[in-house]
Amino acid sequence: MNAGALSALPIGVLDHIGIAVADLDAACERYGARLGARIVQRQQIEGQPVEVAFVDVPGETLLELVSPTAADSPLTGFLERRGEGLHHICFRVEDVDAALATAGRVGLRVIDDKGRPGAAGSRIGFLHPSAFGGVLVELKQKA
Ligand code: CO
Repeated sequence: MNAGALSALPIGVLDHIGIAVADLDAACERYGARLGARIVQRQQIEGQPVEVAFVDVPGETLLELVSPTAADSPLTGFLERRGEGLHHICFRVEDVDAALATAGRVGLRVIDDKGRPGAAGSRIGFLHPSAFGGVLVELKQKA
């Protein structure tokens, strides 16, 4: 057994790739027209200044388009600094609280100590980009 696996996070499949966009309507139309993608869900996330659209790309691939709904949203700053594009990758976990606790225990910097509400009744938490070489990683426990 790989010794590194002893402290590895218990993650499941890739759930989605998050893409920061300035204009959610335009982005939905772009993915629909160019990839034949279907919008499966669109909503404001409880307590967070973002609106998201989940886009089902043919072939069982899910993209999450995320757009800020307030000038003080962290996503507004992200778009100003880096422009539209890749924002995060999301892995599924069975228990988001346990996964975040494990991350903290093995010394990975976390943004969330505990899970918080995500889209469609899910619970999510983020690891800090410094834990993965600049890539923001989301963990998601499905409803
Ligand atoms: Co996400």
